[in-house]
Amino acid sequence: MKTILVTGGLGFIGSHTVVELQNIGFDVVIIDDLSNSNINVLNNISKITGKKPNFHKIDLRNKQKVQEFFKNYTVHGIIHFAAFKAVGESVINPLDYYENNIGSLVHLLQEMRDRKIDNFIFSSSCTVYGQADELPITEKAPIKPAESPYGNTKQIGEEIIKDTCKANGLNAIALRYFNPIGAHDSVKIGELPLGVPQNLIPYVTQTAAGIREQLSVFGNDYDTPDGTAIRDYIHVVDLAKAHISALQRLLNKENKNNFEYFNIGTGTGSSVLEIIKAFEKATTQKLNYKIVERREGDVTSAYADTTIANKELNWKTEKTLEEALKSAWKWQENQK
Ligand code: UFG
Repeated sequence: MKTILVTGGLGFIGSHTVVELQNIGFDVVIIDDLSNSNINVLNNISKITGKKPNFHKIDLRNKQKVQEFFKNYTVHGIIHFAAFKAVGESVINPLDYYENNIGSLVHLLQEMRDRKIDNFIFSSSCTVYGQADELPITEKAPIKPAESPYGNTKQIGEEIIKDTCKANGLNAIALRYFNPIGAHDSVKIGELPLGVPQNLIPYVTQTAAGIREQLSVFGNDYDTPDGTAIRDYIHVVDLAKAHISALQRLLNKENKNNFEYFNIGTGTGSSVLEIIKAFEKATTQKLNYKIVERREGDVTSAYADTTIANKELNWKTEKTLEEALKSAWKWQENQK
């Protein structure tokens, strides 16, 4: 029985990944500082899987606490989600983002080096590509200067991991996520945005639920067929499963380089207006929305070429956009 450490395991993508790990028999230990998650998620995970993961409330910036954890635990791999993730907030508080997202990563990698722990999966982002010159975006697309300190932490994070792999023989995979949405079929876990949602789908579901009065569509003058920006929305359960495939690749020593990176999306782009229409159709809810100015920092279009991930990770998405939107709505309704 192999033990996997999942940092940020009570968060949106982390919790879904913990469920998938437990479902195929891994022992899971979670580190989370509860800064953007709820302790109830731990019980909800156990309700789905019948097994309660071990849990440690640790802030990974605290190097001493991280060292203490590793003195007591032998782990066979680490999936590292724990990080701040709000683009706008990172522009206002860049140092918090660098301290948390970079500091925590360095502390984990130091322990891996010192204790000879291998197999590291890193939450990266399609934001590393900025506005790619060619669509769909392949892994060969150049890394563009980051649009925000948050995006920069993902770029720097990948660089740090690459250097560590080279110097210390660590094996790692960075997964560059496109836009994760939806919730687990059980509706026991899902996305829990703090305060006013910044991302499209939670804003959509909260508007449909009457919590928000109106959805703002940020710009309809983009160079796209309907003028609104295009993204690649992937069901969070499909995304969680990509982590399992990446982990198995490392555990089975099937990786071709000791640092690899893959695009994790569906391969299909949807505009904001297409999402609104698809949501209305999937849920029979009517959405109140208006077109407003563009949001600063948004790219026009980003969707993945997943050919390499499909082949190398032996993984592909199984869920449709309709299923993802339905599950997001079911989750929202379940919050009452
Ligand atoms: N949007 C709206 N109204 C809203 C919220 C979003 O029109 O209320 C639009 C955005 O302008 C964008 C699309 O919906 O065109 C998706 O926006 P999200 O905020 O949901 O997602 P982003 O693509 O901006 O953000 C994602 C991840 C980030 C990552 C970023 C890189 O959530 O972690 O991609 O650009 F950094």
